[in-house]
Amino acid sequence: MRADELVVLKLGGSAITFKEELRKADEQTIRRLAGEIAASGVRRLIIVHGGGGFGHPLAHEYRLHEGLRGDWQLRGLAETHRAMEELNGIVMEALLAEGLPAVPLPPISCFITRAGRIRKAFIEPVRAVLDLGAIPVLYGDVVLDEAQGFAILSGDQIVAYLALALGASRVILGLGIDGVFTSDPLKNPGARLIERLRPEDIQALEAGGSAALDVTGGMGKKLKEMAPLASAGIPVLFVNARRPGLVLRALRGEKIMGTLLSAA
Ligand code: IPE
Repeated sequence: MRADELVVLKLGGSAITFKEELRKADEQTIRRLAGEIAASGVRRLIIVHGGGGFGHPLAHEYRLHEGLRGDWQLRGLAETHRAMEELNGIVMEALLAEGLPAVPLPPISCFITRAGRIRKAFIEPVRAVLDLGAIPVLYGDVVLDEAQGFAILSGDQIVAYLALALGASRVILGLGIDGVFTSDPLKNPGARLIERLRPEDIQALEAGGSAALDVTGGMGKKLKEMAPLASAGIPVLFVNARRPGLVLRALRGEKIMGTLLSAA
């Protein structure tokens, strides 16, 4: 681990919430993860968290991923952002309790998408927070969209965008499962953990969808989002954030169980 390296860490919604339940954060896991981040010593760090049972059910209920279809969705836009702020508040409390200088930056006010893909980004605040020696904290959010009114911007897309734009040394994706499997391990007991992946393997891989409701599309989509990072020389480690100690060891750069997606 180099002192100046920039690490982008995603805390997936399935790791920090009870994804099947409405707006129920796994506060114990969140506090443990905050402790692991503090203990890792990594200080040039961007944290992005997912939505899990906070963002996805509302986004689905109001069909936000389909874009603007009627005024009835505007309430959904507001409620979904509010739910994400609520989860962000819980994550922030845990980070601050560990003495980490974490600063929340709401994606709805720094990204504009076009058909769901980031089109405009005002990431100077992210850079400035990092330059001060503090930790920017972003999250999957509902954002304004040039083509369809609004869209769901996944934390994964934010991770990929920031890692490329800011030249991250590496990315760690904290998941609710051990990594990328040959097929969906919840449906197929014969599914094997893939320890090593190259960007060119991703097309060929039969990644199963997420077992729970996920409007931003499961492991296949996650892999497609991360492939350009690996191609650009930024390794991406998929790790189970629900297993105590793994995020700590991943942040320290130790070799751990998970899936490493990288070009070399
Ligand atoms: C989703 O973010 C945000 C909303 C639905 C508003 P992510 O797509 O990053 O969330 P997880 O990690 O899959 O739960």
